[in-house]
Amino acid sequence: MKNIPVVMIIFGGSGDLAHRKLYPALFNLYEQGLIHDNFAVIGTARRPWSHEYLREQVSDAVHETHSEVNENDLATFASHFYYQSHDVTNVEHYETLKNLAQELDDRYSAQGNRIFYMAMAPRFFGQIAQHINDQHLTSTGFNRIVVEKPFGRDLTSAEELNKQITASFDEDDIFRIDHYLGKEMIQNILPLRLTNPLIKNVWNNSTIKNIQVTLAEHLGVEARGGYYEASGALRDMVQNHIFQIITLLAMPEPKDLSSKSIHAAKQKLLDSLIIPNEAEIAKHFVRGQYLGSDVTFGYRQEPNVAEDSNTETFVAGEVKFGKGPLAGMPIYFRTGKEMREKKNRIDIVLKHMSNQYGQAHSNNITIIIDPDMQIYITINGKKINTPGIRRENLAYQFTKEEQGKVPDGYERLLHDVFVNDSTNFTHWSELKNYWKFIDVIEEAWQKDNENGQEPEQYLPYRMGPKAANDIFDSPTERWIYD
Ligand code: BG6
Repeated sequence: MKNIPVVMIIFGGSGDLAHRKLYPALFNLYEQGLIHDNFAVIGTARRPWSHEYLREQVSDAVHETHSEVNENDLATFASHFYYQSHDVTNVEHYETLKNLAQELDDRYSAQGNRIFYMAMAPRFFGQIAQHINDQHLTSTGFNRIVVEKPFGRDLTSAEELNKQITASFDEDDIFRIDHYLGKEMIQNILPLRLTNPLIKNVWNNSTIKNIQVTLAEHLGVEARGGYYEASGALRDMVQNHIFQIITLLAMPEPKDLSSKSIHAAKQKLLDSLIIPNEAEIAKHFVRGQYLGSDVTFGYRQEPNVAEDSNTETFVAGEVKFGKGPLAGMPIYFRTGKEMREKKNRIDIVLKHMSNQYGQAHSNNITIIIDPDMQIYITINGKKINTPGIRRENLAYQFTKEEQGKVPDGYERLLHDVFVNDSTNFTHWSELKNYWKFIDVIEEAWQKDNENGQEPEQYLPYRMGPKAANDIFDSPTERWIYD
């Protein structure tokens, strides 16, 4: 790998994301030689930490995520980290930061390259972007900015944030990160669709009946009640992760695999995204909230959550497009906290075909994203010694060793930022479409709230609200994973 000179500034350097994801990922990139001698990382946050203390934190973060560590490498790696106590609202602090970045740029010959990483509470993103511009923090080499989700909380606020960021950065230099796009099995969707004649030939709305995307979590909101109250499952999981998955499933074939062609194909699809009307929302969308048990809190009892909160911890719904290979075909999704088990999966349900064996039979293609990685196709054959049809799975699996080699999504995506590959990042025009869709659902739910209609309460550690079983277009449809 080529060594890429850069000074990286992480806003939120004392935070959980930096500790759990960014520092270990950067260490792995360091070990592979992508960043080596000519880099420095400035961690910023309000706390009065020292460089030394940050380095200890970085070292702890690496130890916590690696079973074996080369201690010499780690010590040298950590020595490239600097801490700057920073109040994002204070103009003078940006001056200090700018001077430190320049000093480190000289010391490490970073060639004026900068990466700014927004890894803190989203309410500060706009302000930071504004100050990067007003205080001229960008430099003479490449200037890239990585923005964590959520990018706004509706279309209007996203537009405002985008305006603030584009004052200093071109669209090509804005990396709106969605960690699902760094997951192995999400990156497997296009190769699966495009390289298998067996699959490619059935990838159309006359053969596929529906697609079902399930992102189920076992955990509740834990300590994130404050954030979650302002978000809910729709903004937290659907606006980004679920929509990105659906886009990859439904987009037309890209001309080639360049970032430009992939984004162009995505855009073609998203221009035909069908925005549901009120009646469709009432029929095809369900929101839920988990109840407590003897040993767990219900959502409304969680810390920093209002006692009468209507924030949804579960949502199921339907997406349709007017164009593309799956035009007009329902794509169902659901996601929730405190579900039976952690399971991220995609079920592609093929239409039934009546046949000489009496019953109508079909095939499903299932992609398991987490916690295991797997693809399987359900096929039919004959039962041994008795009449009838037996169903078996043909599986594409990974060995334990292979699973162990799969890099964390953040490592992959950070790598992409360094090498300027924006294939697996969200383009502004995509995001705009996602927000348009989300906004109408939020508005409909707001009206429901005003009419006293609350999210359906569901028992924890099951499959979510019962009403989620009734969102389908036709009575012959049901959740394949239940
Ligand atoms: C995050 C959400 O984006 O994704 C969290 O904010 C959620 O609420 C998480 O728990 C799930 O990610 P993963 O990779 O564990 O499926």
